[in-house]
Amino acid sequence: MKIKIEVPATSANLGPGFDTLGIALDWQYQFEISTAVREKKGEPKLNMIKNGFEAVFNKAKEQNVPHLEVKFSKNILIGRGLGTSAACYLAGIEAANQFLNNPLSEEEKIDVAIKVEGHADNVMPAYYGGLQVIVKKEQKNKNNFINLRLDLDPKLKLIVLVPNFSMPTKKTRETLSHKISLENAVYNISRSVLLTHALVQGKYDHLKEATMDKLHQSERSKNFPNMYDIFEAATREGAHGVYLSGGGPTIAAFVTKNERNISKVMKDQLNDPKGIVKICNIVDEGLKII
Ligand code: HSE
Repeated sequence: MKIKIEVPATSANLGPGFDTLGIALDWQYQFEISTAVREKKGEPKLNMIKNGFEAVFNKAKEQNVPHLEVKFSKNILIGRGLGTSAACYLAGIEAANQFLNNPLSEEEKIDVAIKVEGHADNVMPAYYGGLQVIVKKEQKNKNNFINLRLDLDPKLKLIVLVPNFSMPTKKTRETLSHKISLENAVYNISRSVLLTHALVQGKYDHLKEATMDKLHQSERSKNFPNMYDIFEAATREGAHGVYLSGGGPTIAAFVTKNERNISKVMKDQLNDPKGIVKICNIVDEGLKII
């Protein structure tokens, strides 16, 4: 068995929408997954694929999980805030489901992915594409999550600046306060609502205010001292709104013009030749078999 799967990179949170908003980018991760006689051990990306693969076998009550060999595209950078783990788990899940002749429905695959990966705000846009609003349901029956796609103007792009260091989401998440003041809750709720409406209505002047956050970015910036300087540089050059992508350290900026200059000032401010900057479109399509 051999299967090629493409999954978009995803950017979660979008500022105030912590664990709630995620968006798919035309930065495509590719996986070629085949069964193998032997398996390399200790490779984090392969382990994630394998965990997703095994989870489908378990759910389908199938045994004899085969060894896997996986070829990865070079752009899969772990721990940068661009949804690589969601993509790896989903690729493993899709491969296993195809391998077993599709025992799991779409909802079941998503459910498995969120259980093993943990971040619905990456899993949903990676699987379905577009900008997704995600809500964990109080009453769980068939699905545990609601996801709703918001349609955006194709002129809207995201510049992503990817520093050459990792900020593992799990670790930086542990540093976040679990007690939120009412004032800060209102701060983020109001901005999340404003953000989704401003994006859909094309009222980009609101994005500067709407991408601000008081739940996670400031704490996470302790691992990334010039993060806010990069936000400011991008905004000065004409970015509409700037935020820390997922758990970081990637920084994402909403733009509709002046992309090259904005990219340049972000990269200059990062001041690391190994940092990557890319102007991304938002893609409507999620995971696909290629
Ligand atoms: N929403 C998650 C977090 C990131 O901020 O911890 C998902 O990748």
